Formats: sequence, C-alpha cells, structure tokens
Amino acid sequence: MIIVIDGPAGSGKSSTAKEIANRLNIQFLDSGALYRAVTYCWIKADKPDIRSFINILPEVDLSSEYIDKTFYVKLNGDDITNEIRTQYVAEHVSEIATQPEIRAFVNNYMRNLVVDDAYIADGRDLGTAVFPDAELKFFMTASIKERAKRRLKEMQETDASITLKDVEENIRQRDQKDQSRASDPLKKADDAIEIDTTGKTFDEQISKMITIIENKTKLNH
Ligand code: DC
Repeated sequence: MIIVIDGPAGSGKSSTAKEIANRLNIQFLDSGALYRAVTYCWIKADKPDIRSFINILPEVDLSSEYIDKTFYVKLNGDDITNEIRTQYVAEHVSEIATQPEIRAFVNNYMRNLVVDDAYIADGRDLGTAVFPDAELKFFMTASIKERAKRRLKEMQETDASITLKDVEENIRQRDQKDQSRASDPLKKADDAIEIDTTGKTFDEQISKMITIIENKTKLNH
C-alpha cells in the first residue's frame, strides 16, 4: 500500500511525508535519496561514461531503511546516508536522474520494496510514472518566494553569505529542469490532491493531509 507526495524542490514534501509516516506508524520512502545514492555510486566508480555505468547497474546492491526519523541508505552494505547529502552529489544528481535506465533501476527498487508494507513516499514522478495506482496521491506546492525563504533558512546555517535572490534563482532553475526533463518530468497526476502550503504552518498542513488520508484510506493514527 502506498501514498505518494510529489512536488517541486522546497515544497516541504520530505518533512511532511516523514511526519505523516510517524503519526500513522507507516514506512517512509525517499526517492530523491535513492537517486542521490546511485549518483554517489557513479562518483565512487570514478565517474565512468554513463553507458558503462548503466551496464554495471545490475551489480549495484542498494538497500534502505527508515528508522527513528532517518532514511538510511546502504550501498554494497556500507552506510552512505550522510555521503549522499554532500554538495558534490547534489551537483551531479540531475544528470544521473535524467537517464531512463537509471530511472527504471530506481523505480524497480521502489516497486519491489513497497509490496510488503504500508508506505508514504516523496518524489517528483511517483503519482504519474512510478505508482500510477497509488492508494492516494498528493501534489504539494508553495510559491517560489516561500520555498526560497525555507531553503535560505536551512542554507544560512552553513553559508551566511547566501541571499534570498540567489536561492530564488536556484529554485527557479531546478523547477525548470525538473519540469522539462524528457523522461518522467515533474507533473501533477490528474488524480492527485493539490496541497498549497503557502502561508500555512507545518501543523496546519499535516492536520489537513492526515484528515484526507483517514477519510480516503483505512489508515488512522
Ligand atoms: O528530493 P531530492 O532533492 O533529494 O532529489 C534529488 C534529485 O533527484 C533531484 O535532482 C530530483 C531527482 N529526483 C527525481 O528525478 N525523481 C524523483 N522521484 C525524486 C528525485
């Protein structure tokens, strides 16, 4: 059983999906972390040309687990949860995530994973390409300004020189990339429920979504 949340960068999908997973006592699946893990694997292999990398994908042993509010990722048995969050991985993940064979690899991993338990997952294309038959689909949005303000807060913890204008520009570019990608672009599924979080508190948006989940599925907290 799977509930999906898609939406653009900075719309709050991941923190929302985690909070809902905790309140409903279900599993959380972070699809972006899997793309980051594959990207880390490519970097570790000394960045071979993409075709050669795709050929060795069947040998890549990826695993993941959600424990205590953290989505852990392992590559060939080694914990790479922190490594996938580095700037270096972030800089390369888009080019890796545009490859259809790599998308098929990640999608296959996710589809196999969710057969045994109840999950809430966040991503860009889950309701459209990966789980078109998901039990429930959300599409989260917020204005660019609001998303930039949230990101700025996080980023200023490590880089005080960054400005709201820089972050807004970066988000605009990521939106453009995610929406115009040829394979499985970011797009709201026709049957997804749109949640605009502009001007809403975290608690307000969580309560609203939990009410929808309880009305439309057998889950409750
Ligand atoms: O959500 P995130 O920032 O951790 O995602 C990392 C990258 O993976 C981002 O560049 C978009 C890509 N991604 C994707 O193409 N499809 C998904 N379902 C999830 C993430």
